[in-house]
Amino acid sequence: MTDGRAYLEAQGVQEALSEAVSTCLRDRPVNALAYIAGLIAAKAGTPALPPPTADYLSTVGNTPMVQLKKMLPEGCKAKAVYVKLEMQNPGGSIKDRIAKNMLEEAEKAGKLKPGMTVVEGTSGNTGIGLAMACAAKGYKCIIMMPQVPPMFERYIIARQFGAEVILTAPAKGFGGLLGAFKALIDSDPSKYFGANQFYNGNNPAAHYAATGPEIWSQTSGEIDVFIHGVGTGGTIGGAGKYLKEKKPSVKIVAIEPSNSRVHVGEQPDGPHSIVGIGAGVKTHFLGADEIPLEEPFVNPAVVDEWAHCSSADAIVYAAKACQEEGMMVGPSAGAALKVACDLTLKDEYAGKTIVVVQPSHGIRYVNHPMWAAVKKEATAALPAPPNMDKECPDVLWKSSDYTPE
Ligand SMILES: Cc1ncc(COP(=O)(O)O)c(C=O)c1O
Repeated sequence: MTDGRAYLEAQGVQEALSEAVSTCLRDRPVNALAYIAGLIAAKAGTPALPPPTADYLSTVGNTPMVQLKKMLPEGCKAKAVYVKLEMQNPGGSIKDRIAKNMLEEAEKAGKLKPGMTVVEGTSGNTGIGLAMACAAKGYKCIIMMPQVPPMFERYIIARQFGAEVILTAPAKGFGGLLGAFKALIDSDPSKYFGANQFYNGNNPAAHYAATGPEIWSQTSGEIDVFIHGVGTGGTIGGAGKYLKEKKPSVKIVAIEPSNSRVHVGEQPDGPHSIVGIGAGVKTHFLGADEIPLEEPFVNPAVVDEWAHCSSADAIVYAAKACQEEGMMVGPSAGAALKVACDLTLKDEYAGKTIVVVQPSHGIRYVNHPMWAAVKKEATAALPAPPNMDKECPDVLWKSSDYTPE
């Protein structure tokens, strides 16, 4: 034993361990053991990687958080802006968290049984998350989305996961989509399980159980402001509730598109292109007039401020994040980054730590207007058919010589 202690001492283990325990006692992270393991692993120069797993969905969550550097505005007064990189989930977005949780809780409740088909009647990342989770778990999956060009990537990704895709009339809006969803579920409730993220409490519950605690732990509780766009309101409803319970002074800033500020009582004014947020109707979780006691995640009061961002600014800030930080984000993250950058200039945010969620990878939006300029350039750069003239110069194109019309 004495020999063993001497050996550990000689290796610096005792010292590293007591240092890690002291740091842990200072920071009081949510998961002390994981925190100590992380500190020791960092000291040893070995990343604390989880062992191999047979459960693909166990890779959902525990996403990294990084600090914004170059895109912060001059005159930034905030202490730090951190971005949680949700595109690093296995299905590529924050919605993998709720897809996993909605399926697992439905299984536990006996609402989802082997042989049933999972249906989601709302567009986008949740459909992809469910298609991924269903493939991993062995369920059939149907996802529904409006028949509009920006759905291109979502369509092909969901299909590649083996899901069926049903497209609904865009002129009938969100209501039309929900109507088609309900009609399918009602046609045979023993066959179909409707995930229904806009009303399923296991959506915000996933963020309460994991997204919130991760943010709390990653910032060692130093978070002052949490900013996120509102689609279903699940992320804010769950993570926001958790953060406020841990620290009531945490300010929750919810974002809507500038022309769809329904939560502050304005009428939607035409389409917007901030995909994933601004459904044009008040959300169940954040927009209810009354708070039903039996539904712990229906709570508009969790939002301290309703901010907004235009589609054009969301695109500008998504490009800034990509080019100035190397962070390829989509338009809703662009909107959140724009709001965060603006807030850092205000006196009331001086010295504050702000956390922004980056919901999904920018590559998911190749058919979105945010990619239009580089797509146009690439089409000119790569003519079809290609120039096969053997006498032509070796170099045929330099993007630096290209002038957009
Ligand atoms: C890209 C993107 N951003 C933001 C959100 C909003 O998240 P929530 O539905 O939790 O409000 C979503 C939701 O679908 C999304 O897909």
